[in-house]
Amino acid sequence: MERSLRGRRSLPLRIWHWLDVIAIFGLLGTGFLRKTVMGWRTMAGAITSGLEEAGTTVAPEVARKIAVEIRTPMWDLHYVFGFLLAGLLALRLVVAVLPGRSSVLPDLQRELARPDRSWHHVLVKAGYVVFYALTAYMVASGVLMYFKGALGLSKDLVGALKSAHELLLYFFGAFVVLHVVGVFVAELRGSPGLVSDMIHGGDHAPAARAPAAQAPGAPPSP
Ligand code: HEM
Ligand code: HEM
Repeated sequence: MERSLRGRRSLPLRIWHWLDVIAIFGLLGTGFLRKTVMGWRTMAGAITSGLEEAGTTVAPEVARKIAVEIRTPMWDLHYVFGFLLAGLLALRLVVAVLPGRSSVLPDLQRELARPDRSWHHVLVKAGYVVFYALTAYMVASGVLMYFKGALGLSKDLVGALKSAHELLLYFFGAFVVLHVVGVFVAELRGSPGLVSDMIHGGDHAPAARAPAAQAPGAPPSP
């Protein structure tokens, strides 16, 4: 039987995790919308054919301008979630040095050093290390692109930053699917209670320990 993945999760890490879920879902959602149904080419095509059906024509650059204007309020949310993610990444560095089992790199090193190491646990923890490294790239490239005018960045540099930034959408999509499926499988197999640990803090949290330590009928502890 494999060792459980359960453990104590500090309050700052739990709050951080659920805010990070909101930020990543927002970024993935806006990213996918822009690359699919809300891409300017798709929308400009719909505008052009809609007007043609109504017996009017529209210049391609006008159709494009309208499409970009429709997309702008949706895309502005990308920056709201983007700066939320940037703030969360900075806070995650603070959470890593607070008391509690909250740093993924030492976690991975500890697992590798164990005589009874589990390759499954190594893979899970290595996945988090890659997640954080790529999150750092997304934040750095996103912020640089956002301020490209003020920073005077060259077109080539922005192009290079953007192609990797855009491609990594698929890594984050895959991470979320694998992570959520993995968490469900772990809940059903060796680690029932894993998700509630990420909500209430785990069996070793003081709040969870106090009632268990109390004998039935004993006066409440101070
Ligand atoms: C956008 C979606 C999500 C992202 C980006 C995400 C990200 C992460 C990250 C980075 C960690 C490692 C935290 C650390 O120790 O530094 C983690 C752990 C965890 N997440 Fe998520 N998460 C997502 C969704 C979810 C959902 C929907 C659930 C519950 C169903 C969940 C449950 C957990 C649990 C139980 C752990 C601890 C498991 C372990 O230590 O291996 N996550 N998540
Ligand atoms: C998981 C995190 C992220 C994902 C999945 C993601 C996804 C994407 C995608 C797919 C694009 C390309 C859209 C296209 O041209 O078709 C893009 C562009 C961009 N993203 Fe992100 N992004 C993330 C994080 C961030 C962050 C943290 C920021 C920082 C504020 C940011 C700012 C930008 C900017 C400035 C652009 C260029 C927009 C343009 O050229 O019009 N992104 N992002």
